[in-house]
Amino acid sequence: MGTQENGQTADTGRRMLLGAAVLGAGGAVLGLSGSAKAAEARHGGGGMKNLPKPTIIGHRGASGYRPEHTLGSYQLALDMGADIVEAGDLVPTRDGHLVCRHEPEIGGTTDVADHPEFADRRKTKSLDGVATTGWFTEDFTLAELKTLRATERIPANRPHNTLYNGRWEIPTFEEVLRWQDEQTRKRGKQVWIYPELKHPTYFRKQGLALEERVAKVLHKYGRDRRNSPVIIQSFEPTSIQRLNKLVDNPLAVLLSGPPTSRPWDFVETGDPRTVADLIKPAGLREIASYAQGIGPSLDLIIPKDANGNLTTPTTLVADAHKVGLVLHPWTMRNENPFLPANFRKGTDADAYGDVFGAYKVYFATGIDGVFTDNPDTGVLAREDFVNG
Ligand code: G3P
Ligand code: CA
Repeated sequence: MGTQENGQTADTGRRMLLGAAVLGAGGAVLGLSGSAKAAEARHGGGGMKNLPKPTIIGHRGASGYRPEHTLGSYQLALDMGADIVEAGDLVPTRDGHLVCRHEPEIGGTTDVADHPEFADRRKTKSLDGVATTGWFTEDFTLAELKTLRATERIPANRPHNTLYNGRWEIPTFEEVLRWQDEQTRKRGKQVWIYPELKHPTYFRKQGLALEERVAKVLHKYGRDRRNSPVIIQSFEPTSIQRLNKLVDNPLAVLLSGPPTSRPWDFVETGDPRTVADLIKPAGLREIASYAQGIGPSLDLIIPKDANGNLTTPTTLVADAHKVGLVLHPWTMRNENPFLPANFRKGTDADAYGDVFGAYKVYFATGIDGVFTDNPDTGVLAREDFVNG
């Protein structure tokens, strides 16, 4: 069962966390003089090493409480104590702007279906080999997208979040970078973001390459450096390799289960390797030659059995650490359907399960951080972990 802790990995995790706490105390921006604070902030707060561990990453903001990828969701993630905000998942518009949506298809996260003027934009497309029907950002100009408003993606699990439907527009990546500056100034503490490039091969084939656009915007805002407070992630290893040549930011390769699956860029280029190959020592060594981290699904850290219960942790944490990669798995959510079966409480789709119990087991593996829709819960779970 997943509740079985491995004493050695638990100790390792705590040692890492305590080390980070010492570093964090020394580098805490709030304790510095005005000029030192400004210098520290300019340089990204001293880089990734100063982030608390396990690092709590607000997944699409605080998407457990607000419609995802809105400034309202990002803002709440910071208010709740998230160390980094996933702002955003990046997709392009027809006129080449980068906007924050989880997917190019926006029927489920905006009110586009209520706009009769866009009814004829509804299409079925092959998105990384999957037939997908709806409205796609690449068919809209930025000005058109700005007439839409964000809505809750999973109202069955998060009925209260529908209260905020229609309140926020779709943010652009440039707006996020300006928001990051403004929040850093207001809070006297460096705000970190963790944008993800979505479907890079799909968009490159349409003449809307993401990597060069992201690099150009980061350069414009002076946030393309090794210590810049912007970590970039993608499920496509070749996209991260391309970014490695364009910017100096910390980079992370996302790894999705099942292990037999292949990243879409590998499918398109005929690279036969699977996720299982990438998480072997040789695969991790190669990733470490161009990235600083990996973002595996939680199932690659602790697989589940046929009943959805946690089993025994894999060696992925130790193997990745051996080659110097940090691990930021995804995604912790408080509601029952998203938790391992043995941590659910009842059957209500919008009720919370024993998420603290699940955190305890995952943190014990030695992961460096975690993406969560509920940053406040993640921060408390970290406190529990630090305090033993
Ligand atoms: O980027 C971490 C996690 O967000 C990856 O999954 O599908 O939620 O973007 P997804
Ligand atoms: Ca993401």
